[in-house]
Amino acid sequence: MRSPTELTTWQKLADHQQEMANIDMKSLFAADPKRAQNYQANAAGWTLDYAKNRANETTMSLLTELVKEAGMEEAIKGMFSGAHINNTEDRSVLHIALRASQAQESLMVDGVNVLAEVRDTLKQMEAFVQQLHSGEWRGHTGKTITDVVSIGIGGSYLGPKVVAEALTPYAQEQIKVHFVANIDGSDITGKLKQVDPETTVFVISSKTFGTLETLSNANAARDWFLSNGGTQEGISKHFAAVSSNVAKAVDFGMAEENIFPMWDWVGGRYSLWSAIGLPVAIAVGMDNFYALLDGAHQMDEHFRSAPLEENLPVIMGALGVWYINFHNAQTHALIPYDHYLRAMPAHIQQLDMESNGKANLLNGDGVETDTGPIIWGGAGTNGQHAYHQLLHQGTRLVPVDFIAPLTSHNPIGEHHTQLFANCLSQSQALMVGKTLAQAEQELKDAGATPEQVAAIAPHKVIKGNRPSNTLLTDKMTPATVGALIALYEHRTFVQGTIWGINSFDQWGVELGKVLGTDIYNRLVSDSDNSALDASTQALIEAFKKAQS
Ligand code: F6P
Repeated sequence: MRSPTELTTWQKLADHQQEMANIDMKSLFAADPKRAQNYQANAAGWTLDYAKNRANETTMSLLTELVKEAGMEEAIKGMFSGAHINNTEDRSVLHIALRASQAQESLMVDGVNVLAEVRDTLKQMEAFVQQLHSGEWRGHTGKTITDVVSIGIGGSYLGPKVVAEALTPYAQEQIKVHFVANIDGSDITGKLKQVDPETTVFVISSKTFGTLETLSNANAARDWFLSNGGTQEGISKHFAAVSSNVAKAVDFGMAEENIFPMWDWVGGRYSLWSAIGLPVAIAVGMDNFYALLDGAHQMDEHFRSAPLEENLPVIMGALGVWYINFHNAQTHALIPYDHYLRAMPAHIQQLDMESNGKANLLNGDGVETDTGPIIWGGAGTNGQHAYHQLLHQGTRLVPVDFIAPLTSHNPIGEHHTQLFANCLSQSQALMVGKTLAQAEQELKDAGATPEQVAAIAPHKVIKGNRPSNTLLTDKMTPATVGALIALYEHRTFVQGTIWGINSFDQWGVELGKVLGTDIYNRLVSDSDNSALDASTQALIEAFKKAQS
């Protein structure tokens, strides 16, 4: 496997970066009256405005050439045909299949029609959701179910939680869905205080059914159920599981008919479209869940078939590489101007950082370039009163994605117009900045003395020329939310392909898990810790002392 630096376009981009170093985005707009139209692309209900980037025609054509030379077209074919592109685990990567089952009859992978399996599972979900919503599913004392507590972590938590929250306006009234993830006992304790053991169903979501946090919380939920009037026989009325490890779920005491399957070819952080999305389906209903899948499928089809130069995930992925590798950007911010999408950065953070936080090429050689950036962000306008200062005047270059719906689910007063105005003004301010002359004039106009002008004006200078994308949609619906998340999934894949890394394994999280077990054993025993580093020894002692 080649390093991206060996691609001929890589060096061309490095040279081109030198040419672009002194070009201001404002001058690019001045030179091209059609820049807004020329730097726009559409797919699956979303419009991407990427005009406010440090990019001209040459940049975009070199980036497209880079993507092509990196083998993107073959990589897309590989993904969509079920090839084992997750080479270190020898697996297919088929989250795209999870949203294709309504539109396509079959997809044969390793001799199995995976779409038939997906459809069967969707039917099983449909029946479960229908029984819960209709009140047919009863608890062990015969009461209807009012609450569902989803227990999972990582990809078995973030995606469903973020999507359920994003689709709050579509929430069904019959059932309230709660999420528990952390091993911190405060998480589940808080949730259990809100629910009644007679009317609550727990959905235990774990691909492996071996994750410490999830199993500990599942055990705590079962103990709570049993010590609050529940019975062993009643467990089948109150516990369901989503897992690819049926045997382990059965060992837990789960009734087999309450186990929803998932497969090796779905990565945890790409799994919200599988039965891991069951809490979403319960929260918003199965029709809305199908609409979510369909929106994602529209984006998949766009990614698969649109020319590279019009392809949203490709454009966004390539621009990201442009900043990370040619402008030394270390982070990338996601700022949704939509309250219901406020937690989306956390999901994309896991998606991207677990996928592209890698230092080895596909063949195991070390990378020579930076790979995945630190993904962070939060809802606008809240962030404007927190971290935007650094975006505007800090020393670091932080490319930003602004995400906004054109219409609101809650159109009260001038709120939405104000919200949208703020979104646009931030991308504008990042680009135009403020010159020293403007700052001086502003101070003079406000009546400042010449001394004050000289002292204060430099602090008011905003360099500008900071890049951003703006993603717009008419409304946040199940379909547009599905398409948006699929867009970021594919963007992650595009970048991984350019860097020549495997975006679909996550070996890095293993060491912490192994050491966590070792330290846990030391915390609960009188083991000899002298071989450990002095810092860890002292911290273990501090904990033990506090418990005694
Ligand atoms: O953090 C590592 C990880 O393996 C994620 O990729 C995964 O989504 C999460 O743990 C939870 O795993 P599981 O669904 O097997 O409980």
